[in-house]
Amino acid sequence: MAADASWWRDAVIYEIYIRSFGDGDGDGLGDIAGIRSRLPYLRDLGVDAIWITPWYPSPMADGGYDVADYCDIDPRFGTLADAQELIDEVHAQGMRIIVDLVPNHTSDHHPWFQEALAAGPGSPERARYLFRDGTSSGGPPNNWRSVFGGPAWTRVADGQWYLHLFDAHQPDLDWQHRDVRAEFESILRFWLDRGVDGFRVDVAHGLIKHADLPDIPTDHEDMLEPPDRTDHPHWDRPEVHEIYRSWRAIAESYGPDRVFVAEAWVAKPERLACYVRPDELHTAFNFDFLRCSWHADALRAVVDCTTRALDAVGAPPTWVLSNHDITRHVTRYGRASTRGGGSQHESHGPVDVALGRRRARAALLLMLALPGSAYLYQGEELGLEELEDLPIEVLQDPTWERSGRTARGRDGCRVPLPWSGFRPPFGFSPGDTPPWLPQPQRWVSLTAELQKREPDSMLALYHRALGVRRNHSALGEGGWSWLPSATGVLALHRTPGLVCIVNISGGPTALPRHERVLLSSEPLPDGALPADSAAWLEVADHHVPQRAAATSFPTDGVPGRW
Ligand code: NOJ
Repeated sequence: MAADASWWRDAVIYEIYIRSFGDGDGDGLGDIAGIRSRLPYLRDLGVDAIWITPWYPSPMADGGYDVADYCDIDPRFGTLADAQELIDEVHAQGMRIIVDLVPNHTSDHHPWFQEALAAGPGSPERARYLFRDGTSSGGPPNNWRSVFGGPAWTRVADGQWYLHLFDAHQPDLDWQHRDVRAEFESILRFWLDRGVDGFRVDVAHGLIKHADLPDIPTDHEDMLEPPDRTDHPHWDRPEVHEIYRSWRAIAESYGPDRVFVAEAWVAKPERLACYVRPDELHTAFNFDFLRCSWHADALRAVVDCTTRALDAVGAPPTWVLSNHDITRHVTRYGRASTRGGGSQHESHGPVDVALGRRRARAALLLMLALPGSAYLYQGEELGLEELEDLPIEVLQDPTWERSGRTARGRDGCRVPLPWSGFRPPFGFSPGDTPPWLPQPQRWVSLTAELQKREPDSMLALYHRALGVRRNHSALGEGGWSWLPSATGVLALHRTPGLVCIVNISGGPTALPRHERVLLSSEPLPDGALPADSAAWLEVADHHVPQRAAATSFPTDGVPGRW
């Protein structure tokens, strides 16, 4: 593992959705043993770190984001000893490991919530959560909605209601309560003591609620969208920042290389920048990039606005195209409208998967050429598409039921990976046990084993791109500027000596002057860059023309909410 304290400023971090990465014990569900045996794959791929989604004991009402014990491992995933061995092994293989911290809510099976139920109204046990009496007409305390659909309040037997911004099995903690703060500080130390390199902070924008829990004005466009103001009663409230200042101090006490990445869905980059001020969280996912359409001006604007806002606080940007909550980008980019990040709440159009894959190849070269760090979501290196036609009997995302079976939810991006072989489970499990979500037979042509042997596969492109990125001094942190380019074309100059050119113009475009092609997402017939492709070119910096002016505001990001 590199001893570099600022590794996170330009790391490539691979998200492992633990239920679907690899199954070691043959029960059809991913686990720690399945991750451990595949670490060489990740090392060879060339990632710097892994982020593992929650592995704690959980009833799995929300795939593990309903935590019953923050300091143990769910027996379906392994043991605490297995986790320790994994942490050590990741380090031994030269990588880092980030674990998922879920502070906004616990599981309803968490001892604190069980004690709160038993203790009754007005008890100190209830004060750790947000229990309230209903209205005089028998309704919930306010009009807040759950992100997964339906009201954000559930009534218990004695008549009180508790708040859950997500599923009813995920009661929200009251972060004004001392016990809550102290408990999470000790959870941080628990995992830092075991050697983890950092934490991904779930719902970092949601921990603090307005003390009066007021109604959200019903004329608000969408009650769940984070507004560009500081007065939303439960999203992006300024009081969250003092929590992160105390966490930063704890991480620093273990060394400058222990880091946080915030999952904060906020209205614009300037608000995201507040989470990554020098004494707060180190980095935050940049969802504007993921939500951006496949359009040169829109992408350029997102890059400009993000870098400008984060530069102002000295934090590196992050770039991400897919994760376990969002329609996979192969599918998004294969639709007529590529805008919006593809929350599964939206209606879908037909998908041209081949076009989506072609664009995904180009998007990878853009993302990895941008300054800062990048997140990969497991399976994107195989070019997996969203499975939008899973049978409804297998759907597990709480969104499906809570939306009254109108929104299928996020299972389509969580299907277990195809590793090898010719039929499901495609090497995901050691035996023939069907995986917890069914894989389609057509993934036979996308297995890692097969793609390793194909020089033009998606996996081969990821491998090459990560290799160049690791070894080229212009990539990662450092200087960059846009070069003048034709309409629909992005040309990013990284110093020293590299230009990334992305063609979204609809037709071929000429390559700028260069010494040689380092990498391209498609073959380059006659030295031109075809539509929906990208290339990294080695250039002599003194031949590079003057920079183009930066753009002002992103035009088409749409807010998200996970
Ligand atoms: C964000 C996580 O990424 C998502 O999977 C989860 O459902 C919600 N937070 C609630 O924890």
